[in-house]
Amino acid sequence: MKYFTGMIIFSTSCATSFFVLSMMNSMKKLTKPFEGQKPGTSGLRKAVKVFQQQNYTENFIQAILSAIQPSVVGSTLVVGGDGRFYSTEVVDLIIKIAAANGVKKLIIGLKGILSTPAVSCIIRKYKATGGIVLTASHNPGGPNNDFGIKYNTSNGGPAPESVTNSIYEISKNIDSYSIVPDLKCSIDYCGHQYFKVDGKEFEVEVIDSVLDYLQLMKNIFDFDIIRKLIKGSDNKPPFNILIDSMNGVTGPYVKKIFIDELGAPSNNAVNIVPLPDFGGLHPDPNLTYADGLVTALKNGEYDLGAAFDGDGDRNMILGKKAFFINPSDSLAVLANNLDCIPYFKKGGITGFARSMPTGSAVDRVAAKLGKELFEVPTGWKFFGNLMDAGRLSLCGEESFGTGSDHIREKDGIWAVLAWLSVIANVGEPVDSILTSHWKSFGRNYFTRYDYENCESEPCNQMMIDLEKKVTNPTIVGQKFTYGQKVYVLKHADNFEYCDPIDKSFTKKQGIRVLFEDGSRFVFRLSGTGSSGATIRLYAESYEPPNSNILEDAQVALKPLVQIALEISKLPQYTKRDVPTVIT
Ligand code: G1P
Ligand code: ZN
Repeated sequence: MKYFTGMIIFSTSCATSFFVLSMMNSMKKLTKPFEGQKPGTSGLRKAVKVFQQQNYTENFIQAILSAIQPSVVGSTLVVGGDGRFYSTEVVDLIIKIAAANGVKKLIIGLKGILSTPAVSCIIRKYKATGGIVLTASHNPGGPNNDFGIKYNTSNGGPAPESVTNSIYEISKNIDSYSIVPDLKCSIDYCGHQYFKVDGKEFEVEVIDSVLDYLQLMKNIFDFDIIRKLIKGSDNKPPFNILIDSMNGVTGPYVKKIFIDELGAPSNNAVNIVPLPDFGGLHPDPNLTYADGLVTALKNGEYDLGAAFDGDGDRNMILGKKAFFINPSDSLAVLANNLDCIPYFKKGGITGFARSMPTGSAVDRVAAKLGKELFEVPTGWKFFGNLMDAGRLSLCGEESFGTGSDHIREKDGIWAVLAWLSVIANVGEPVDSILTSHWKSFGRNYFTRYDYENCESEPCNQMMIDLEKKVTNPTIVGQKFTYGQKVYVLKHADNFEYCDPIDKSFTKKQGIRVLFEDGSRFVFRLSGTGSSGATIRLYAESYEPPNSNILEDAQVALKPLVQIALEISKLPQYTKRDVPTVIT
């Protein structure tokens, strides 16, 4: 190959290739460690202003690349994110630092845009070494909000703790990073750009953000069946959907898949232009922050509504008149109906899994179908090993995460396509699919209370004191009463998990208090916040079929929640009487 310094030939479409050619050398820059570069539940998340400090982002990128030594030399990495404020600056730094660290090729989404599921898909499809995802997921964006960086490994999934711990250790002692300061690369056009760095070829390929993901969805689902449902056929009226991308990354994916491919009218998708500050929205698809969707669904015009978070891995699905599908129920219904999706019809179904706090409705489906069921700590990274070992087909979290082994991230758009497939197959509306499910399996009532942005110290103290209190053996058998309800404590612990595949051990994953009738509550501290502390309280109780299965979840769970608040003394520690978000 010939190298022409400074020559740039770009195509204006995504179809062609061309070259930018120059020769340059890397250099080392001295730096000092920053405190707290410890990846949380899903990568490093901090305020934009923290990432903007001189060398802060550079240090963390270098720590990632050093942690994956020796495989970084000659590697291919995928880079993209939800397009939030500060993304393009960070993509530019990644290009310069990756080139200096001997990375052979970067595959980057056009303008830096790739949903988290698309990154996972692309890593797997092109057998990349890994990927760097630029997102703080559902946290608000903009100059005064959050940014995030996450590393995914070659299976397409979030790096396991062995890798994130090593990134953290390196970040604590880092004294320099390598960079090619003069490297100029555009991510505004698709195509290949080649550079010669330290005598070796370095390539950047900018790709269409949507195409590979669209292809994967077409291989998994029967688009014809879903199209017929949406457009209506054989005297069946169109199935009217409303999709809200909340100004996050899913906009271009939603337009291509639901409007161009599946024929939904173009005004049935809203907020589909990704904005650096999400247009001021809090891009978290729950009943509080996606209230625009809830309101739009209430009058009964739409048969199904769906919203996604900033990076497209979360989903909330509503039925007619804003009938809410709890994510734990969504997982169970999909588990029970997977065989209507070509991917599973062909490949079969192995096991199911959920995170520990997630409602256990799916456990009942697993038992009925004779499938393995895994209960893992919070965070998608714990599902990856089970999928790689061929033991897990479908999994989910109560936090609006649903997905399968088609990739190694949860996948919002996939979840909606899965629901549309089920609806087309069963031929019933969303609410009757749910009630039929409860009638045959019983209902696991589930709720989550979030107390966001509390002071850290009292929250940590509350967790320490609560653990001491509930793990004291004398508490077993103790009765707790609220109104007519009496709960007898059966067992309590701080959840621990031994990965069945690599035997890695994870401790302190949430305080569980289990009662004799199968009810339980759980307390956890969030690992995704960027400052302060967020306490999550999860409560679950079970009603068998033919009993009280149609009650409002908040009413059904009130006694359990009140007992949890009393045992934990949460209001006293946090000085909060009400949660920020109830799901
Ligand atoms: C939250 C959710 C968790 C999810 C994670 C990333 O983490 O609770 O289920 O995997 O976001 O989307 P947390 O803030 O609770 O640590
Ligand atoms: Zn997300």
